[in-house]
Amino acid sequence: MKVQINPERCQGHGRCYDLAPGLFGEDDEGYGQVLGHGVVPPGEEEAARLAVANCPERAIDAHEE
Ligand code: F3S
Repeated sequence: MKVQINPERCQGHGRCYDLAPGLFGEDDEGYGQVLGHGVVPPGEEEAARLAVANCPERAIDAHEE
């Protein structure tokens, strides 16, 4: 599974890196960034889905490779 953030939609709500800190970080202005090129490690799939479901801007996409 991979995740990505659409930078045009992200408004810096920070739910992604609060809920899934193993997958997302924040840039200097608080916008979300994927870690490790967005590759979801084994066991983190549920966290990825949680982040997708909780982004108010629907800026996060998760897809199977
Ligand atoms: Fe941005 Fe959504 Fe995260 S708005 S900071 S991708 S929760």
